[in-house]
Amino acid sequence: MTLHIIGIGLNTEKDITLKGLEILRQCDKIYLENYTSLLQCSVSDLEKLYGKKVISADRITTEQKDQEIVEEARKKDVAFLVVGDPFSATTHIELFKLAKEKNVPVKVIHNASILTAVGITGLQLYKFGQTTSIPFLEEHPNLETPYNVLKENQERGLHTLFLLDLKPEKNKFMTVNEALDILEKIEEQKQENIIKKNTLVIGCARLGSDDALIKAGPLEKIKRCDFGKPPHCLIIPGKMHFMEEELLQLYTKGL
Ligand SMILES: C[S@@+](CC[C@H](N)C(=O)[O-])C[C@H]1O[C@@H](n2cnc3c(N)ncnc32)[C@H](O)[C@@H]1O
Repeated sequence: MTLHIIGIGLNTEKDITLKGLEILRQCDKIYLENYTSLLQCSVSDLEKLYGKKVISADRITTEQKDQEIVEEARKKDVAFLVVGDPFSATTHIELFKLAKEKNVPVKVIHNASILTAVGITGLQLYKFGQTTSIPFLEEHPNLETPYNVLKENQERGLHTLFLLDLKPEKNKFMTVNEALDILEKIEEQKQENIIKKNTLVIGCARLGSDDALIKAGPLEKIKRCDFGKPPHCLIIPGKMHFMEEELLQLYTKGL
């Protein structure tokens, strides 16, 4: 029997690959990790399409149950569903590693990820530097990492993708506006002139969905935009090729 780690894409139940769907329809048990990202559909929408019960697993359940899930997969076919691609967040490599260590067969079905969907901005994916996360300040009052990563990427002319914190159990999802606020607060502390009112920033919301929204412009204008429902992410471009600049122009309209 096998542990199938299946990426289900960025948007709705229909974003799973055909291969992923065929495999999970044959699985005895299906877990969904629902704490590192957010779909635009409900668990019952997934269940309807899959024709199977889906067990939602929060962070604590998954981390505590890693061993149990792997042991279950020794005797049954178990699917572990991840929003986006399984390996674009660091979280799920542990489950994969554990299965390998325990000699439990493990297979991975890839899918689209936020790390590739940002290509729609026109910025070339291979010119992104280190991706960084912006956590809620309450838990990280002395936060500096995203600012320092941005500084290093900028020094090398590379683009920076910021993934924004989310607490689905509290229905709390960081917006582009909050993220910019946090970066400005760090700038106030550090005063290294990395974040300015006219810094070019790109806010993205719900990429992969029909109502995806992308807006590019100076920080002070983007901060006033309403990006609507989560999830959101933020990009600060590095040195741009003229073709990147041309495509980005599409997203500056109506600011
Ligand atoms: C840990 S990452 C998601 C990793 C996921 N496995 C993947 O492959 O996309 C979660 C963060 O990515 C961003 N994100 C995820 N999906 C998004 C989307 N469709 N549009 C905009 N941002 C998104 C948000 O900032 C969210 O908090």
